Amino acid sequence: MLDIRFEKTKQPKEKPADSVLGFGRYFSDHMFVMDYDKAHGWHDARIVPFANLSIHPASTVLHYGSEIFEGLKAYRIADGSIQLFRPEENIKRMNNSAERLCLPQLDPEFALYSLKEFVKTEADWVPHSEGTSLYLRPFMFGNDEHLGVHSVDHATYMIIASPSGSYYKEGINPVKIMIESEDVRAVRGGTGYAKCGGNYAASNRAGAKAEEKGYSQVLWLDGVHRKYIEEVGAMNVMFKISGEIVTPALSGSILPGITRKSCIEVLKDKGYKVSERLISVDEIRQAMKEGTLEEAWGTGTAAVVSPIGKLMYEDMEYIVNGQKIGPVTQMLYDTLTGIQFGRLPDPYGWIVKIQ
Ligand code: PLP
Ligand code: COI
Repeated sequence: MLDIRFEKTKQPKEKPADSVLGFGRYFSDHMFVMDYDKAHGWHDARIVPFANLSIHPASTVLHYGSEIFEGLKAYRIADGSIQLFRPEENIKRMNNSAERLCLPQLDPEFALYSLKEFVKTEADWVPHSEGTSLYLRPFMFGNDEHLGVHSVDHATYMIIASPSGSYYKEGINPVKIMIESEDVRAVRGGTGYAKCGGNYAASNRAGAKAEEKGYSQVLWLDGVHRKYIEEVGAMNVMFKISGEIVTPALSGSILPGITRKSCIEVLKDKGYKVSERLISVDEIRQAMKEGTLEEAWGTGTAAVVSPIGKLMYEDMEYIVNGQKIGPVTQMLYDTLTGIQFGRLPDPYGWIVKIQ
């Protein structure tokens, strides 16, 4: 395995108070970096002071969007120790994203080792207050220094860390979501299942329109029929309709969320019926009109389990569950955060201890 060179910062930053964190606004003292080229593979793994990068103006990432990323959290538990939630799943997904974008594969064992070493280095940056964590952002970009369109010969892999609180300003309170009927996020055969920057760039226009109208995020419909529910901007989505829990199947155009997968496992374990299937927007609209849409929520690392209180479609606004968090949403939130923060046992073997 590669050695990791360590260069300690000479100017440690002052840490923000937990109460002002928000999401992704502050960064820790160090960053993990390693470089790739076709001849040498991955090399020069290092943890160095957090700093701006210097890249060639023709670098592939700046022109052709050759970038993938991941998101996971380091949690501080009651005894002061730190743990990760299913990091192997993030590494697996990063390699799937890399395969789709023709970026190099990571050695999963080294990727986990380097992630753990990095979190150990930044241990003091894992916040202590309820609901806070150190958000970890591994990412990789193509870094060839010419303008030809090709799969890349040079790449860089990095991890940065951001002490974070709630993703939405609403916290665990229900969010407002707008169903988008013009722009689409992805199609089968495209990059929807990969976590690549371009997917997010393409979703900004609809996101901005939703924000202007007072909604937190967009709920995407499929790119072919504009009829079937896909996912939210930064979350997968689940509904409870007449007692049945439904969520869009993984068809290639949505992100296979790790929180989604974990929720499905918890729900099945607790005896709920979960169907991963096509869900048309008409089915949701009908259920909202008839009052059979009992709960709706989003799932994601940053957003955790986030109740949806209002849904807007074609200029009609529908209230879900009286804009209150429903019992299944609450159970999932409590179970997942309970395991993540060590308040509950981990019967599934999801936790990886750091120190
Ligand atoms: N869908 C999109 C588009 C996302 O950005 C995210 C966040 O990572 C998710 C779903 C949820 O994925 P996960 O639960 O792995 O964080
Ligand atoms: C995450 O939940 O980790 C994400 O990556 C969502 C993000 C786009 C903010």
